[in-house]
Amino acid sequence: MKKPSAPTIPTDPVRPRGDHAESPVVQIDGLRKHFRSGGEDIAVFDNFGLTLASGQSLALVGRSGSGKSTLLNMLSGLEGWSAGSITLFGESLAAASARWSELRRCAIATVFQEANLMPALTLLENVRLRADIAGRDGADAKDWLDRLGIGSLAARYPDQVSGGQRQRAALAMVFGMQPRLLLADEPTGSLDGHTAADVADVLFEFQRAQGCPMILATHDPALAKRCDHTVSLGG
Ligand SMILES: Nc1ncnc2c1ncn2[C@@H]1O[C@H](COP(=O)(O)OP(=O)(O)OP(=O)(O)O)[C@@H](O)[C@H]1O
Ligand SMILES: [Mg+2]
Repeated sequence: MKKPSAPTIPTDPVRPRGDHAESPVVQIDGLRKHFRSGGEDIAVFDNFGLTLASGQSLALVGRSGSGKSTLLNMLSGLEGWSAGSITLFGESLAAASARWSELRRCAIATVFQEANLMPALTLLENVRLRADIAGRDGADAKDWLDRLGIGSLAARYPDQVSGGQRQRAALAMVFGMQPRLLLADEPTGSLDGHTAADVADVLFEFQRAQGCPMILATHDPALAKRCDHTVSLGG
């Protein structure tokens, strides 16, 4: 895969309130999350805690249904919780706070299990749009697609590429936006072993070069081992 020009770290247009160097990037305390489904109460988290320091990477592992995606959704502000606290960049956030949308726009990048690209835009336009939304210039959009091995597909639309290629385009979007926290749900889950290893290399190079804290959910022990810490869910 081709090396891109070194990405620059721009001044962040949205610096979350209360941010200071010694705060953990993520602090979760006493978190409780239950789902009600068909009259049944499903306890996913009870008194759960986690801390992620600046520049660190953390793997969330655990059997299917253990709560990995639910936790990433709560950290993205897309899912509420019933007790406990989530503090990001030193700022304690209430479950439905309007602040989440501002953080998602500029600071928190999420790669979901299903890549979510705009169907009416090409892969390159998707990467540029995401950078633009985050207040970045997007000049390195094509470099990231090249580096992820899909530069030749830049002019194609999402429905003209494979699921794994869409997932790589979703990663290029995240890299181009230069987030302050990266959340990735099975980022190499739909890739063959060889491509998954290449994409993981780009992911960790990005994470280390930018010092970008990252939480990733994975069933892949090799990917989890590359992270600084591992948290196992579901007992
Ligand atoms: N909206 C919902 N309503 C009811 N139950 C839900 C809902 N979303 C998730 N769950 C349940 O919460 C639990 C955690 O689900 P989650 O998707 O977080 O698991 P996961 O660890 O990401 O699994 P996988 O490895 O399969 O992706 C599961 O038992 C799931 O069925
Ligand atoms: Mg999941």
